[in-house]
Amino acid sequence: MGITFDKDSGIFHLFSDNTSYVLKLTKQKDIVHLYWGKRVMKPAVAHLLRPVMRAFAPASHLDDIEMSYDSLPLEYPFYGTGDFRSPAFQIMTPDGSLIAEPKYLSHYIIKGKPGLPGLPATYVESTDEAQTLSIILFDPLIKLKVNLVYSVFDNFDAITRHVVFVNEGTENIHLLRALSATVNFNQSDFKMIQLSGSWVRERYLHTRQIEPGITSIESSRGASSHQHNPFFVLAEKDFGEQHGHVYGFSLVYSGNFLAQVEVDQFYSTRASIGINPFNFSWLLDPGTSFTTPEAVLVYCADGLGRMSRTYHNLYRKRLCRGKFRDNKRPIIINNWEATYFDFKQDKLLEIAHQAGKLGIELFLLDDGWFGKRDDDESSLGDWVVNTKKLPKGLAGLGDKIVSMGIQFGIWVEPEMISVDSNLYRAHPDWCLHVPGRRRTESRNQLVLDLCRSDVREKIICMLKSILENAPISYVKWDMNRNMTEIRSASLDPERQAETAHRYMLGLYRILDEITSAFPDVLFESCSGGGGRYDPGMLFYMPQTWTSDNTDAINRLLIQYGTSMAYPASTMLAHISAVPNHQVHRNVPLLTRAHVAMSGNLGFQLDITKLTSQEKQVLKEQIEIYKQIRPIIQQGDLFRLLNPFECNLCAWMFVTPDKTRAVLMYCKILAEGHEPLRFVRLQGLDPAKEYRLLGTEEIYPGDVLLNAGFRLPVFIGDFQSALLRFQAI
Ligand code: DGJ
Repeated sequence: MGITFDKDSGIFHLFSDNTSYVLKLTKQKDIVHLYWGKRVMKPAVAHLLRPVMRAFAPASHLDDIEMSYDSLPLEYPFYGTGDFRSPAFQIMTPDGSLIAEPKYLSHYIIKGKPGLPGLPATYVESTDEAQTLSIILFDPLIKLKVNLVYSVFDNFDAITRHVVFVNEGTENIHLLRALSATVNFNQSDFKMIQLSGSWVRERYLHTRQIEPGITSIESSRGASSHQHNPFFVLAEKDFGEQHGHVYGFSLVYSGNFLAQVEVDQFYSTRASIGINPFNFSWLLDPGTSFTTPEAVLVYCADGLGRMSRTYHNLYRKRLCRGKFRDNKRPIIINNWEATYFDFKQDKLLEIAHQAGKLGIELFLLDDGWFGKRDDDESSLGDWVVNTKKLPKGLAGLGDKIVSMGIQFGIWVEPEMISVDSNLYRAHPDWCLHVPGRRRTESRNQLVLDLCRSDVREKIICMLKSILENAPISYVKWDMNRNMTEIRSASLDPERQAETAHRYMLGLYRILDEITSAFPDVLFESCSGGGGRYDPGMLFYMPQTWTSDNTDAINRLLIQYGTSMAYPASTMLAHISAVPNHQVHRNVPLLTRAHVAMSGNLGFQLDITKLTSQEKQVLKEQIEIYKQIRPIIQQGDLFRLLNPFECNLCAWMFVTPDKTRAVLMYCKILAEGHEPLRFVRLQGLDPAKEYRLLGTEEIYPGDVLLNAGFRLPVFIGDFQSALLRFQAI
């Protein structure tokens, strides 16, 4: 890993084991992008920049009219002086000008990777793990510094980028657009892969050919959203899990984002990611700065599989934090689908008791334990226990559960306020709202204004008091609506377009304070399932409720799509009842178990209603899960059969030392006279021999990798197998 600068050629070379990223400082003091791809030993790629005289091209540089911004691959493009494509940033000065033209001023390279103030980001544990390059651009007319920051890691083939704007002048500057990264490519024969969907249908894989013009996904919901994930891939024409040039873009941010690809008139491509400029601006007072969120770029020469594993490794090891980062995650039982709001302490204790007998390790009390919350119409904000349900409070329930030998956790939704709550009656101005306009409710609730310090303080005090007064070792942090009437009573009119981003900064502050104050508590992030499943949240909460959809067949798709960017250790996967509560499908218990065992296993059903035979099956599966948990949670994932493309799904997890592997195979619908099927396994050591556990079968690694493994034949719909291989 390293970063070099060659003064004579003006070439910056950022490289990791398998990747090179090359920039050039031109004679005219522009920073242009030359190359991002497979590692080259010498970054002699200046010939890739071959400016040509073009019709209608503005003469951006009179000394060299071929170097027009119209087609120059500017590394951080600006608007108004000849580049007619989408800019990475745009400003407005007090005289109404929208033009900026920052030029190279200086640069420096340091060891390590400094944090981003107030924002989540990947990190290093020692300065030897990464190097960071800052290239400082400066617009002398408006005295704006634009600091392009890049880090390369020693152990991960990833490059991170963010930008810091500093107003060094005496006049205000409005930032109207401030993306985190833009990358130019010399070609446009790409497919764009995105993770899109809806509530209970999150992160489905969608692939489309990009064409001249703009192809984009975005969120303007005030959260990264169920609809689109802040992640996309540009894949060269011929690609698959194990081949093809693929370029991943991921944003470490939980709010409104834009991910955009533009193909220009010369079939060059510009890919960008960052805060959504829609409804965004930021007033930079003289002397102040603005930092964009971090973008994480991963290039891979051999397909999607290794790209995903690079993201998984980086996010598992250097984005997630705290003592749970490397520790096994507990097997949870959640009472939500068992009882919804209708529970009493005795029922919860019975569930916990029976769960403990099966080997479940943590009981999570979901929504409905506070205020008068017997449905979703009231009480958010009134975080006082409902003693009709829990006579001795959270502590009373928690103590009893802990005495059964299992841990206790609770659900909260701290960012929200019900109109029917004492908090709202006392502080009607504490929510996002526009005076004189309707306050649009969603799930009967409004969004607290986290731009306000008094609101943040109240939330922090409330959470501290709950966590200090009961034996709570787990918190599920939910968020069940998106933002409307986005305006903060705490901000001046010219700052109102900062509200959505300031909300995120406020949320990150709260999360930082609470997670630091309670390092022994494991936090789960949730937003009606996976409505805020993004790297920003993972920085504070290392696991996420993947989806409210617990149907195992839909989960194949959701978990497969999610795995493009996110490791299994971040995905909660629960076994639930049949018919499934979301899609009313009846899936066999073993298949429900196998799919859930491919993530952080949990349960969300009334375990007291299971037959003794079903309990026995679950007990056995829990025992198996405890054995394979390190492989699933810390191992490498290989996707083998894609359920978006066929009736089958298979993936496998392999330990880094390649001694143990778990294969999950599921066939969705039954077929008449089923053909025999083989699948080539991946990730194994060709020189080792593997025993298929539970059998006498032994296979050489190279045979499994090349000739393949014969998949079981099933009878009936929704059948699956979970197979374990052990090197001998
Ligand atoms: C939405 C979550 O995704 C569910 O798991 C559950 O916690 C409900 N909220 C509770 O209101």
